[in-house]
Amino acid sequence: MPLTFIHITDTHVGETPETLVNNYGAGRALQAVLHHIAQNDGHGASFIAHTGDLARDSYHPAAYEGGKRIYGLKGDACAPGPLQVTAAGLNLDWYYIPGNSDHRPECLARLFPRSPAVRLFNYAWEVRSIRFLSLDWGAWRMDNYLLVPDSFDWLREQLQTRTPTVVLTHHPPVHVGVEMFDAMTPPDLHRLQDLIADSSVLAVFHGHTHYPWENRIGRVPVFGTGSVTYRRCLHQSGGEESILEIHPPQYRVVTIGDEGTVSAPVCEVPLAA
Ligand SMILES: [Fe+2]
Repeated sequence: MPLTFIHITDTHVGETPETLVNNYGAGRALQAVLHHIAQNDGHGASFIAHTGDLARDSYHPAAYEGGKRIYGLKGDACAPGPLQVTAAGLNLDWYYIPGNSDHRPECLARLFPRSPAVRLFNYAWEVRSIRFLSLDWGAWRMDNYLLVPDSFDWLREQLQTRTPTVVLTHHPPVHVGVEMFDAMTPPDLHRLQDLIADSSVLAVFHGHTHYPWENRIGRVPVFGTGSVTYRRCLHQSGGEESILEIHPPQYRVVTIGDEGTVSAPVCEVPLAA
């Protein structure tokens, strides 16, 4: 029986649903996304996976409270979840994989207070015979990341067991063809790609760039999902102040078929006037 889940990333919400972040109503945008999911009966999904940057930035940990309120999060599971999304009449499990806006101890304390202290959110769990891996490079307060040995070795060990697997991570494990983003990837990115290419990974999902992408590592599809919040303009040269763009917030509806096939169409949410 196929398994469906929803991929959301990079919401960057403020301390309340109404808080403006760089003059953008990020909380309202996430509310619109959740209403869109509810209007579509949850797309038949079993859970939501949120790959990082829930809160506006690592300097405003109270923004996790805004995220919790908007999602209507309930439950007391340890990281990475599941907590339960109850907003907009939904009743969906919710897993969290941190990004570079996530101060890990604040994230744990505010979302998963019963969790033992950890430095990295590297976790494995299973839903209906599919293994999900939360892969955390630990990078925060910077855009770049490195293949830190703790996470690389953990992933290599996990992938020694060949079972159908989906990797959820914040940073792109590929070049996307835009220098601004490709410069953020590790110089030895090929080591990660070699590991994934020769494994039972069915697909990788990431955020970070705020734009949607579809790439491959060998036969493995790699899906980047666009942000719920605003994006940086792709066409600016370095050095100047960031130009920010508003796009419809989006999410992906991911379906893993019985044969391991993966479909992951993007849903764009119209912004109400
Ligand atoms: Fe982000």
